Amino acid sequence: VMLEAQAVVLAAGLGTRMRSRLPKVLHRAAGRPVLDYVLGAVETAGCRPVTVVVGHGAELVEAAFASRGLDFARQTSPRGTGDALRAARSVFGSRAPARLLVLYGDQPLLRPSTLRALLEAHHRSDAAATLLTFELQDPGAYGRVIRAADGAVERIVEAADANPAERQVRELNAGVYVFERSPLLPALDQLQARNAQGEYYLTDVVALLRAAGQPVGAMAVEDADEALGVNTLGELAAVARRLNARRVEGLLEAGALIEDPTSTHIGPDVVVEPEAVIRPFCVLEGRTVVRGGATIGPYAHLVDVEVDAGAQILDHCLLRECVVNRSASVGPFAHVRPETVIGAGARVGNFVELKKTRLGEGSKAPHLSYLGDATIGAGVNVGAGTITCNYDGRLKHPTTIAAGAFIGSNSTLVAPITIDAGAYVAAGSVITQDVPRDALAIGRARQVAKLDWARRRREAQQEPKPRP
Ligand code: UD1
Ligand code: CA
Repeated sequence: VMLEAQAVVLAAGLGTRMRSRLPKVLHRAAGRPVLDYVLGAVETAGCRPVTVVVGHGAELVEAAFASRGLDFARQTSPRGTGDALRAARSVFGSRAPARLLVLYGDQPLLRPSTLRALLEAHHRSDAAATLLTFELQDPGAYGRVIRAADGAVERIVEAADANPAERQVRELNAGVYVFERSPLLPALDQLQARNAQGEYYLTDVVALLRAAGQPVGAMAVEDADEALGVNTLGELAAVARRLNARRVEGLLEAGALIEDPTSTHIGPDVVVEPEAVIRPFCVLEGRTVVRGGATIGPYAHLVDVEVDAGAQILDHCLLRECVVNRSASVGPFAHVRPETVIGAGARVGNFVELKKTRLGEGSKAPHLSYLGDATIGAGVNVGAGTITCNYDGRLKHPTTIAAGAFIGSNSTLVAPITIDAGAYVAAGSVITQDVPRDALAIGRARQVAKLDWARRRREAQQEPKPRP
């Protein structure tokens, strides 16, 4: 209760430096929009209610976060961060709590624990505002924190407005503030746009508070990464790298072996259990789950895949929306498409494509096959080059192969079709009629051997050509 604060997240800017029409905060880093991380940190820190100031691409941002219980305020034109906060005054201005956490929507690396620490530091002080600061060797475009001779925070100067001495300052404004509302409101009213960018800077509130005799505090964040803002695609990529590194570090600590953290990408909603092994150059996305004792890669890409204990996904596989059961093996070079279930102990080998197919327990499709819309029982052998012809140009049709059946190599199964339990299909067959249980179906031209044909041909070629 003592740390109660409502939050205002500023996300109305043009994001010009992104060189993109998509609103900056909707750009994705490691699978989620930038703003999603910021809101997650704010919510985990316990700040409520949350107001998001939108402007450029407002409809898109509101739609993307419609179900999150947020309040939105509109900034009509992007006249600076101070103007953006002003645009939300009718929302945050009269309701409780009277303490505000204000931050920017482009800082996805902020940790909830840092926001809590800032709220605590503010609460312990008698300051009207407390800002989060950080240090960088190369301070770049960040606002400089200028302190008085006695060490008190005096003002923030933007890089574009800083004189050479101020530019040297390494204590920087992270863009996260706690404000007491009653001194904040008059300071917001006094903002001027007389600066290099012609904008109403939120950062000028610091000097205005000081001029009104209000103390302003600061807390430094140790991990400067947390303050990294996404202003360019380069920074977006850097943020994605850091998010991934954090994710991988957490998994390693929990007991999953990620062999090469820098080449492995693991999305925020992916589960990798302890004792799982992820070999180098893998990309795991969406709701993928890798159970303990499973091995993935190298070079595998999984989206919304469940890989059970002891299963292995070998080199160069792409899998989407499918389940690989216990001790099954997939790849190298397999493509497993949505709605596929690979049974326990089953084997899918190289250059095999599966779509909407159930491959039964212990069944094998080791080489060069396309199995689509197929239900395949246990203990089936699918020979090299088997193709289910599931599409007639208009509709998709099912193939059923019952338990224990054997499909010879290079067979063409024209769906809808059923191969019953224990049946055999001879290699090279085109199967257009159902095959009964335990039968052998042969659907190919009978072989003919023309005796002595080759010898007679050779001899004919050796005879001297008749003179013309
Ligand atoms: C800002 C700070 C700078 C700080 C840095 C930290 C100001 C003036 N400068 O600079 O001191 O070091 O963040 O990352 O505040 N926005 C609006 N409406 C606007 C302008 C911006 O909503 O009219 C939003 C943007 O969508 C963005 C956030 O405010 O999410 C910050 O704006 P941005 O232009 O990125 O500020 P910086 O130049 O990074
Ligand atoms: Ca920024």
